[in-house]
Parts: sequence; C-alpha cells; structure tokens
Amino acid sequence: WVRCLLSDCSSIFLCVSPGVQAMFSQQPQDLVVVAGQPVTLPCSIPGYHGVVLWIKDGLALGVGRDLSGYPRYTVIGDHSTGEHHLRIQRVELMDDAVFECQAIQAAMRSRPARLTVLVPPEDPVISGGPVVSLRAGDPLNLTCHADNAKPAASIIWIRNGEVLNGAMYSKTLLRDGRRESTVSTLYLSASNIETGQQIICRASNKAVPNGKETNLPLVNLSVEPQPILEGNLVKFHCSAKANPPVTLYRWAKGGNVIKEVSGDTYEVIVDHSFFTEPVSCEVTNPLGSTNISRNVDVYFGPRMSAEPQSLQVDLGSDAVFNCAWTGNPSLTIVWMKRGSGVVLSNENILTLKAVRQEDAGKYVCRAVVPRVGAGEKEVSLTVNGPPTISSTQTHQALHGEKGEIKCFIRSTPPPDRIAWSWKETVLESGTSGRYTVETVSTEEGVISTLTMSNIVPADFQTIYNCTAWNSFGSDTEIIRLKEQGGSQGSTGSTFSTSTLWWPWF
Ligand SMILES: *[C@@H]1O[C@H](CO)[C@@H](O)[C@H](O)[C@H]1NC(C)=O
Ligand SMILES: *[C@@H]1O[C@H](CO)[C@@H](O)[C@H](O)[C@H]1NC(C)=O
Ligand SMILES: *[C@@H]1O[C@H](CO)[C@@H](O)[C@H](O)[C@H]1NC(C)=O
Ligand SMILES: *[C@@H]1O[C@H](CO)[C@@H](O)[C@H](O)[C@H]1NC(C)=O
Repeated sequence: WVRCLLSDCSSIFLCVSPGVQAMFSQQPQDLVVVAGQPVTLPCSIPGYHGVVLWIKDGLALGVGRDLSGYPRYTVIGDHSTGEHHLRIQRVELMDDAVFECQAIQAAMRSRPARLTVLVPPEDPVISGGPVVSLRAGDPLNLTCHADNAKPAASIIWIRNGEVLNGAMYSKTLLRDGRRESTVSTLYLSASNIETGQQIICRASNKAVPNGKETNLPLVNLSVEPQPILEGNLVKFHCSAKANPPVTLYRWAKGGNVIKEVSGDTYEVIVDHSFFTEPVSCEVTNPLGSTNISRNVDVYFGPRMSAEPQSLQVDLGSDAVFNCAWTGNPSLTIVWMKRGSGVVLSNENILTLKAVRQEDAGKYVCRAVVPRVGAGEKEVSLTVNGPPTISSTQTHQALHGEKGEIKCFIRSTPPPDRIAWSWKETVLESGTSGRYTVETVSTEEGVISTLTMSNIVPADFQTIYNCTAWNSFGSDTEIIRLKEQGGSQGSTGSTFSTSTLWWPWF
C-alpha cells in the first residue's frame, strides 16, 4: 500500500511507504567540475530497498537505475547496501544543474546539489588591429580574444615577463546563456615598442587557472637601401623574434607568393612594380603567423598610364588629348606642338578650343622625372575643313620647251574635285591639246600638275586657275608661268628680257 503525494517541486510524485525508517548516509554535495572530466554525485541510503530517483533541475532522469535517456549517466554502487551514486562521464555544459536523489518509498529527498560546470576558453587569438607590424613610428593596436568560456576568461598581456596595464576588455554572453567570450584590446604607442620584444596574451578562468597563452611574433621588415633607382638591388630583411621560434618564412609581392624565397632575407633587382605592389613577409611559429608588408620607394622614369589618341576634328570644334604618366618621384608633364617651343599645357589634358586649320599637326606629350628619366608620346591632330592650296614656288619654262605648273592641295577630307582653268579651257584630268593634268596623292597632300608642251609666248600671258573642292568648301590659287631666265621681279611678267623669243609680240 503506497500513498502518493504531489511533490512541492513541480511534477514529481513522492511515494511514501509508512513504517520504513531510512536515512541518507551520503548525499550529493555542490560540486565544481571542468567540462570533459567525469564526476560522481554520491547518494547512500543504507537499509533502504525501494526505488531511488535522480532529479535534475526538477525533472526525473529515469526510473531506478534505468537512465537510458542519458547515455553519459549511470547509477553506480552496491544496490544491496543502498548505494545509488550518479556517475556522469565527460561532463558537458548541459550538466550544469541542480541534482537531487530521492528515496521514493521512504519519502526522502537529498539536499539539492549544484553541479557547476566550468568551460575553459578556446585558445586565445591575437588579431592585429589594422596590421600587426612594427614600423618605426607606428603604434600597435593589439586585440586578443578568448571565446566560449564559463565563466568568462580574463585576459592579461605580458611583455618580457611583465604584465602590461591599460588594456580594455569586453565580454559577450553566448546564446546558450552560460558561456562568454572576452575581447581585450591593448594599445602600445610607438615609443613604447621595442625591438625584439615578445608580447603574450594569456587567457584564464577557473577551468584553466594557469591560463592559455598565445604569443605574437613581432616582425620588423626592413628594406635597404631606400630610395632606390629602378634596376638596382634591394634587400628585404624580416627580423622576427618569437617563442616558440619561427618555423616558416613566406614572402609575397602584390599578393602573389614568391616560392623561390624561404629564408628571412629576400634580395631582388627592383623595378617600378615594387612601388605599387607591396612586398610582405609572413612569419609563422607553432602558435600562429604574422604578416607585415612594405612598399619600396623605387625611383623610376615616366611610364605611360593613359595613351593619348590622334584626333580628327572639324574646323571650329574642340580637340582634347589625354596623356597620363606615372613616375617616382613626382613628374612634370609638358604638351607642345612639334616644331614650336611653346608650352601648351602642364596637365594630363590638352584642350585646343575651336581649332583652326593651322592647328593641325603633331603634338607631343612629354613627361620628366627630374634626374631619373623622361618619356614622350606624339599624336597628330587633323582638322576637317575646306582645302588649302599652295602653289610650288617656281614655275619657269622655256619657250618651245615643255613647262609645268603645280598646285599643292592640303585637304581633309581629301578633295572631291580638282580643276585647272585658263582662258576658256577647263581641264580636270587627262590631255587636251598641248595640255595634260596629272594628280598625285602624297602623305602631305595632293599635288596636281598641269603640263604644257611646246610652250608659246601666250602661255606666259595667261593666268592658270587651280581650284580644289571638298565637302567643306573650295580654294583657288591663281598661278602664272614665267619664262626661264626672265625677270625675277614679277611672276607672269609678260615681257621677258629675252625679247629674242618674242618676235611676234
Ligand atoms: C585601437 O583600437 C581601439 C578599439 O578598437 C580604437 O578605439 C582605437 O581608435 C584604435 N587606435 C588606433 C591608433 O588604431
Ligand atoms: C627595424 O629594423 C631596422 C633595420 O634593421 C631598424 O633600423 C629599425 O629600428 C627596426 N625597427 C624596430 C621597431 O625595431
Ligand atoms: C600578407 O597579407 C597580404 C594581405 O592580406 C597578402 O596579400 C599576402 O599574400 C600575405 N603575405 C604572405 C607572405 O602570405
Ligand atoms: C577659278 O575657278 C573657279 C572654279 O571654276 C571659279 O569659281 C573662280 O571664280 C575662278 N577664279 C578666278 C580668279 O578666276
């Protein structure tokens, strides 16, 4: 006959059989245990042979010795002598609870025993502020975090055996509501940094009273000599002090690992790329690695970074050339028109407003890095407009012989039509009587030649009209033929000194 009572601690039934006299000879005690360790919660009730229940945070773990829902839990001890100890293998955070041992038929419960589970922090990690590096004049901002500890880890910084004060820390509670992560930040001013020192971050809590440490290899990457002219030898030296000692040096340039170099020194002939692609040295010891990088102050002559393009623009429009260079130390840029000493611009950009035909030609963009080097690039400007004609200077001929007059046409776009006219004749090409027109294109322009055979005196009297057209308009040049050996003063002079030849005049 069993009388059952509703327990005062929630849903537990305490069943008491009257007349049984029993007492706890061992009860569970409050215990503190480090996660991963085993623990035994004692419970002995000599002379009691009824059911014993283990209760965790108010919930029964099972009936009697069957704790099948809890693989790490077993009830141990000699049942016949009333031993019902609860053994927990490899304690976990979820075991952090209040345990109670109950003798059901005796209506007895042990004192509640708190099992406190301690969790050591994970290995502390030092992450560099911006870059964990030692550069003359740079301060160090070091951050060390020790995560997932119960209770929260405390962090100390040690340099050369001495604790450094002034670190700031913060703690974050994890979602499980039990563990916490700690972050500590240590600021070291530049003047407080010494060569060859070691800085240790030590995290400890009750689970690891002696703490866990991480050690930051302090690296000093030196580059010598500096500045250096492109094409010369530079030596990088990575001096690292670490404990445990450095096991690996790795070098990279611009993010690409340099496989051939594995020691603490890297010697190389530098070029301009070292100015923009930093060289880094990564130092590793069994506790971690540190990476420090440096640019080299390489002096190099101008290198073109934006190439100007030749332009063809319409008369009256603007022409804009862009030419960019890099160089070290700083360079100067000069824009000039080829053949003229006038500086048109000292900027990357040269703008010619409302271009005229005489602006056409070659332009030069020149860059100078003083005492290091110079470079230049030529571009051309072509101006679209009506043709412009210049006649070749001398048109001399001898009576009875063959003579020719030329007109030289500059024209962009090229002429659509060229015509020679004199008296009532118009001739564009081919031969007409004593006259022949021939047109030749050259790089500079078009040359149209009017050839006449068997020159007669009237040929010296006539004016020859050379006209060229393109889509923008036309130009005309009036040319005369001069008798060879005749007066130099006036072209087309009708009366020659060699009157002998002019009997019919
Ligand atoms: C160092 O870190 C702290 C915390 O992140 C920040 O407030 C401070 O500005 C940093 N100082 C420097 C010099 O980077
Ligand atoms: C780094 O090394 C260079 C060259 O050896 C030295 O001049 C400099 O003082 C060192 N810097 C630090 C912070 O130790
Ligand atoms: C050092 O860090 C930089 C930036 O994260 C990286 O590009 C470089 O490859 C690293 N150096 C080495 C030797 O790994
Ligand atoms: C030259 O010829 C062109 C085309 O035939 C004509 O328009 C122009 O008036 C002529 N010029 C002279 C000065 O004769």
